[in-house]
Amino acid sequence: MKAEVQRMDFRRTVLVTGGSGFIGSHLVCSLVNGHPEWRILNLDNLDYCCSPKSLESVQDRRNYTFIRGDVCNSRLVNHIFSTENIDVIFHLAAKTHVESSFESPSSFQRVNVDGTRVLLTAAHQARHRPQRFIYVSTDEVYGASLEEGFDESSPMRPTNPYAATKAAAEYLVRSYWDQYQVNKGMVIPKFLTHLQMNKKCTIQGILPISRHFLYVSDATSAFLLLLEKGIVGEVYNVGTSCEIPIIQLAKELVRMVKNVPESEVNDWLQFVPDRPQVDLRYPIKCEKLQQLGWRAEVSWAQGIRQTVKWYQDNPNFWSDNTKGGPVNQNQA
Ligand SMILES: NC(=O)c1ccc[n+]([C@@H]2O[C@H](COP(=O)([O-])OP(=O)(O)OC[C@H]3O[C@@H](n4cnc5c(N)ncnc54)[C@H](O)[C@@H]3O)[C@@H](O)[C@H]2O)c1
Repeated sequence: MKAEVQRMDFRRTVLVTGGSGFIGSHLVCSLVNGHPEWRILNLDNLDYCCSPKSLESVQDRRNYTFIRGDVCNSRLVNHIFSTENIDVIFHLAAKTHVESSFESPSSFQRVNVDGTRVLLTAAHQARHRPQRFIYVSTDEVYGASLEEGFDESSPMRPTNPYAATKAAAEYLVRSYWDQYQVNKGMVIPKFLTHLQMNKKCTIQGILPISRHFLYVSDATSAFLLLLEKGIVGEVYNVGTSCEIPIIQLAKELVRMVKNVPESEVNDWLQFVPDRPQVDLRYPIKCEKLQQLGWRAEVSWAQGIRQTVKWYQDNPNFWSDNTKGGPVNQNQA
């Protein structure tokens, strides 16, 4: 019997950190499926909020490799860069839940800032020099605005520890390579999960809070476009004009999930005290990205319908998560 080891030659090696998370897993799937000639490495420590099940469809593909590990572990990260010829890095690994960032800011600082520094240093020192380092930041680094939209030159004024660590990391990245940003909205999974458990949607405070929503496939298409057309060293906002008041969002979800008469919609809302600092809205301008040819393809109505359907079709998706994490997200 003769065994033969075949070395596959790939045209590009792409490292995605946080590739088992919400956005990361969509990005990994689209890279693995869309580019069989590229080797895709996913470095993720499977923190409580990860969604590895989203990667089941690609886990046996020959151009995909999962590395379970901590982005702050410089020995591991240096080892990856010395043994693989990494051409492109998408850095998404992060602690992402704003609420928890008030309770344990140091863990946010460790992962979001130190982790970014470790990765930048390893990439910078790598024998095989990467072509691109794309850092995914957040609209929250700009703070809130009632009037003006933020463009890429707007000052960063973060108002919670999560956003502060993302801003610190962004400054670090700016001092090395290029980066860009994406919109945030974990409120949808929270409301949907509550409604599926026959619990009410909890609305924090009484202020007219709204958020901008972008469907995850539109976010990943922006990443891929920036990989090809983004100018190195530039910052790109990834945004949307789709702004929805949180209370309207809750009511829409109640109507879609609970199917109750209009007179009973409010019965599914519960007002709870706000956290100490809350930003009313994060308007983002993204003309710069649009000039490269990017447009959001999925409308609000279509995206929210697909998201609700996904939750209805996958009711136990999170329940056997190894870490038992309760909160996840399916629409950015
Ligand atoms: N979801 C949004 O709407 C949104 C909006 C704006 C910005 N972002 C940014 O996009 C990126 C991805 O967000 P997401 O919503 O997919 O987050 P997520 O919480 O779903 O995923 C984060 C991933 O990072 C991994 N991770 C955490 N700590 C790690 C560590 N020390 N080492 C290796 N992996 C680690 C987790 O296991 C998880 O898989 C984040 O950087 C976030 O700040 C997200």
